[in-house]
Amino acid sequence: MADPSDTNAAWFARARRVIPGGVDSPVRSFASVGGTPYTVMRGYGPFVVDAEGTPYIDLVQSYGAVLLGHAHPVVTAAISTAAALGTTFGAPTPGEVLLAEAICDRVPGCQQVRLVSSGTEAAMTAVRLARGITGRNRIVKFDGCYHGHSDALLAGGGSGVAMLGLPGSVGVPKGAVADTVVVPYNVVPELSDEVACVIVEPVAANMNLVAPGPGFLAGLRAACDEVGALLIFDEVITGFRIGPGGATAWSGVKPDLWCFGKVIGGGLPVGAVGGSRTLLASLAPEGPVYQAGTLSGNPLATAAGLAVLSEVTEKDYAGLAARAARFAAHLTAVISDGGLAVTVPVIGPLVGLFLAPRSSGPPVPLAAPVDYVTAHQFASNGVYPRFFHAMLRRGVALAPGAYEVMFPGLAHSDEVLDSVVSAAGDAAREVAKDLPSSVG
Ligand SMILES: Cc1ncc(COP(=O)(O)O)c(C=O)c1O
Repeated sequence: MADPSDTNAAWFARARRVIPGGVDSPVRSFASVGGTPYTVMRGYGPFVVDAEGTPYIDLVQSYGAVLLGHAHPVVTAAISTAAALGTTFGAPTPGEVLLAEAICDRVPGCQQVRLVSSGTEAAMTAVRLARGITGRNRIVKFDGCYHGHSDALLAGGGSGVAMLGLPGSVGVPKGAVADTVVVPYNVVPELSDEVACVIVEPVAANMNLVAPGPGFLAGLRAACDEVGALLIFDEVITGFRIGPGGATAWSGVKPDLWCFGKVIGGGLPVGAVGGSRTLLASLAPEGPVYQAGTLSGNPLATAAGLAVLSEVTEKDYAGLAARAARFAAHLTAVISDGGLAVTVPVIGPLVGLFLAPRSSGPPVPLAAPVDYVTAHQFASNGVYPRFFHAMLRRGVALAPGAYEVMFPGLAHSDEVLDSVVSAAGDAAREVAKDLPSSVG
């Protein structure tokens, strides 16, 4: 007889007993789509396999941490080799030097990085550094951008914060956000000389996918320069994914500080804050801005990150962007033919998905959202949860939340993406047929 814990439901029931909500990060829960999460037993290339042995084409890819596909042999070999030499020392190691060099070589203008263990830590450190350097407290962030879960940056957060419909978090004292100003994406705010920094996702990928409009990033650069504030690009998602130089090379706009994470850890916990040597000299031990971490620059994580960065070529990035563009065009066509209104923004390999019920008559092209308010209209219309489950039943794992993007990576061949397109056409037909008129 099969072990009762060999089902997703059994694993989730066990998880709920000992882990709040059964998940170690709220975005993994099915809170906004309903149902029971699948428990992943293993992954290979573009696939994950759940507790019941069901394979799915995985477009979550650990929310963008995985670029080469799951269990890529080059990455797993690098991790094994590193592990055999010892997993952590609390002393400098070559891996952190090599990874820091690899990052600085690729991102125009980034001269130094301090490695940390998550994107949250990177953003938190970048803000502390900006405050320390400028001697100012106020920070400006954009509604729907997510910069991790540190107190000062949760307000107006996208991703899981938006998915759960929270304005921020209980437990964050008023004082912690008193100096956080949240403004709409794609509008250059007027800044006062009290502003320490403006932090932005240069391509917003936590309110589904919202592109920076023409002149937005350059406008932020100019606005910061005018008042002596620092511009921080949070490239935790875009870094080393939309190209070796991330959104910095893509946009041609150079920030003062960068936040990195995800891809540079090759699936292990890493983050980094980057900048010029002059600015990073303010970090301890050289300067007075304190920051530390027992596992920062961990040998396994740096080995995995380096393996990924060394493996991916310019040609790979170009090929991936071309595959993503083709995928987005085909998705748009089949979902629209299936009877839903849809817009599928695509930026490099990042693919968004905004769905809506279709009013009667021929399909009309939908405008892509430009900010959180317009993104939220799609995310809250009730279509995505239905589409999510219709796709899951057809063997395609999208993120269980309407504010996330799809992460096709180097393991997703045209053939694999064509299977997703085929499933999406069927799923759209099923959803369109079943949509009650109240939805939307
Ligand atoms: C743009 C951005 N910044 C920061 C973070 C936080 O990174 P982490 O989850 O590694 O703490 C995320 C996570 O999704 C992110 O997308």
